Amino acid sequence: MTRRIGVLLSGRGSNFEALAESCAAGRIPDAEIALVVSNREGAPGIDRARARGIPTRVIPSKGLERETYDRQVAAALDEARVELVCLAGYMRLLSPFFVARFSGRILNIHPSLLPAFPGLEAQRQALEHGVKWSGCTVHFVDENLDAGPIILQAAVAVRDDDTVETLSARILAEEHRIYTEAVRMVLEGSYRIAGRRVLSAAAGR
Ligand code: GAR
Repeated sequence: MTRRIGVLLSGRGSNFEALAESCAAGRIPDAEIALVVSNREGAPGIDRARARGIPTRVIPSKGLERETYDRQVAAALDEARVELVCLAGYMRLLSPFFVARFSGRILNIHPSLLPAFPGLEAQRQALEHGVKWSGCTVHFVDENLDAGPIILQAAVAVRDDDTVETLSARILAEEHRIYTEAVRMVLEGSYRIAGRRVLSAAAGR
């Protein structure tokens, strides 16, 4: 049966589009993006989803208490029979309710080598700190910001002439690649969790 993925986004939607492409091309086998949800009216990612004929929902968060909002999002995901939730530039913290509701089934992509530089503008933080390597991380989501068990990372060398824009662009190409890999791995179930470590299912047996 086709596995159903829900994507939550707030902006551009390039990671969403990379996942949609990977489903269509079979790099994520037997899966589809069943629903794209945005908290922001006018998010370009919503237009990209519509152009692909993927169902979308805009659920504005303004004025709503976090859990009240998250219950609406969870209901939309349930209605679409989503089994895996992928955050793709979703600029909201999730409530404990939501994290528990989809426990172990929420992934996030972040543009740094976590635990370095969580939060906003990770690429700017990395550049300003002066690191020589940055990159990106796909991790399971828990109640804390950019903090759950790490599934995959990719490193990107920082060049002397990098700006936030040039560094972000090279990291983004890696984001698209490892998000696909991580989603495939999680849907296949080819991993096991030991403490904070996400290991290959075969490792240590
Ligand atoms: C990506 O770089 C993603 O890693 C980042 O937002 C961008 C969204 O781009 N997410 C975070 O910073 C989350 N803490 P996209 O809308 O083109 O996928």
